[in-house]
Amino acid sequence: MLNFDFHNPTRIVFGSESIPRLADLVPGDARVLILYGGSSAEKNGTLDEVRAALGERRVQEFGGIEPNPSYETLMRAVAQIRREKLDFLLAVGGGSVIDGTKFVAAAVNFPADPWEILLGHGQNVDSALPFGSVLTLPATGSEMNSGSVITRRETQAKLAFMSPHVFPQFSILDPTKTYTLPPRQIANGVVDPFVHIVEQYLTYPVGGMAQDRFAEGLLQTLIEIGPQALATPEDADVRANLMWVATLALNGLIGAGVPQDWATHMIGHELTVAHGIDHARTLAIVLPSLLNVQREHKRAKLLQYAARVWQITEGDEKQRIDEAIERTAQFFESLGVNTRLAAYGLGREAIPPLLAQLEAHGMTAIGEQHNIDLAVSRKILEGAL
Ligand code: NZQ
Ligand code: ZN
Repeated sequence: MLNFDFHNPTRIVFGSESIPRLADLVPGDARVLILYGGSSAEKNGTLDEVRAALGERRVQEFGGIEPNPSYETLMRAVAQIRREKLDFLLAVGGGSVIDGTKFVAAAVNFPADPWEILLGHGQNVDSALPFGSVLTLPATGSEMNSGSVITRRETQAKLAFMSPHVFPQFSILDPTKTYTLPPRQIANGVVDPFVHIVEQYLTYPVGGMAQDRFAEGLLQTLIEIGPQALATPEDADVRANLMWVATLALNGLIGAGVPQDWATHMIGHELTVAHGIDHARTLAIVLPSLLNVQREHKRAKLLQYAARVWQITEGDEKQRIDEAIERTAQFFESLGVNTRLAAYGLGREAIPPLLAQLEAHGMTAIGEQHNIDLAVSRKILEGAL
C-alpha cells in the first residue's frame, strides 16, 4: 500500500427531515448567504425549509448558479459577500452549487485574481469562509470532499482545484430531497460515482486490500440499485443507499493509499466545455474506450474487476477483459446513458479541437502512470466514436 495522510473533517447529517438541524449547525450569530442553482430548490420546497430553519439569522440569497458553475456567475456572489460583509455560506443544491460555493468561499479573501486559485490547483489557498451544504443531487461527492470544478466561459476552461480549506463544515443528506430529480439526473447520479470508484480502483495492484473490497462493494451496490432508483423513484431505501454510496465514492476513503487515474475525468471535462454534455455522460463516453486502450497497463486490475464485480471467470484473459469492458458500457446504456460520441452528434472532426484543449490545459501526461499523452487520448476518443 502507498503512504497516505487521510483527514476528512466534514460532518454528515443523514436522513429524512434533517433540514431543521440547520438551526444548530449554523452559528447563531452568522451572517449567512444561501447559494442555490436554478428553480428546483424553490419548486420542491427545500429552500423554504432552509429559510425556516435559519430562523432570525441575517440571511441573504444568491441564486442562478448554473450546472458546471461559471467563474463569471460566482464572482457576482463574491462581490455580494464582500459588500454585505457576510461570513457563512450555505450551498443548497447538487455538485455545481457546492463546487461553486467552495470557489466563492476561497475567493472572498483571496489576495489576487481568484482565477489564480484554479491555475494554482488550490495550493495557493490559505483560508476560506466557513460553509455547509444541503445536498439535493447525489452524484459528485462534493458534499464531503475538498475538490471543486469551475468553468470560465470566456476562455472555455473547466479546471479543478483542491484545498483542505474547502471541506464543507457539514452536509445535510436527506434522501427524500432527491425524489424530484428527473431520470436524466438520477442516471447521472449512478454513473458519476461509478466512474469515481473506477478511477481510484482500476489502476494497478498495490495491496490495498480494504480499499479494493470497499470499492468493489460500492460498485456492486450501484449495479444493484441504479436500475431501481430509476424504476421506483420514491423508494426511500434505494435513494438513501444511492446518496450514501455517491458520497463514499469520493470522500477520500477508498482513494487513500492507492494510485489514482482521473484521465477519464480530464478528457470528459473537455467534452463538457466544448459540447455542453452532462459531466456523467462524458465519463460514460470516455471510460469504456480508455479501459480498452489502457488494457495492458491495467491488466491485473481489469481481471480482478471482471471476476469480483461482474463474476466473469470463464475464458482467456483477453475474453474476460473484453467482457468486463462490455458489461460496463452496457450498464451505462441500460440507465439511458449513451456511451458513444455519435449518439451526441459528434464525429471524427470533433477530436482535434478536444486534443488542442487538453494540450492547452496541460493534460498531456495523465492517468495513474502519466502515460496518456495526446496520441493516447486521440486513440481513446477515436475508440468512442
Ligand atoms: O439548477 P437547478 O434548478 O437546481 O437544477 C439542477 C440542475 O439543473 C438539478 N437538480 C438538482 N437537485 C435537484 C434538481 N432537480 C430536481 N430536483 C432536485 N432535487 O440538477 C441539475 C444538475 O445539477 P448539478 O449540480 O450540475 O449536477 P451534479 O451534482 O451532477 O454536478 C455536476 C458538477 O460537479 C462537478 C462536475 O464537473 C460538474 O461541474 N464535479 C465535482 C466533483 C467534486 N467536487 O468532487 C467531482 C465530479 O467528478 C465532478 O467533476
Ligand atoms: Zn465526476
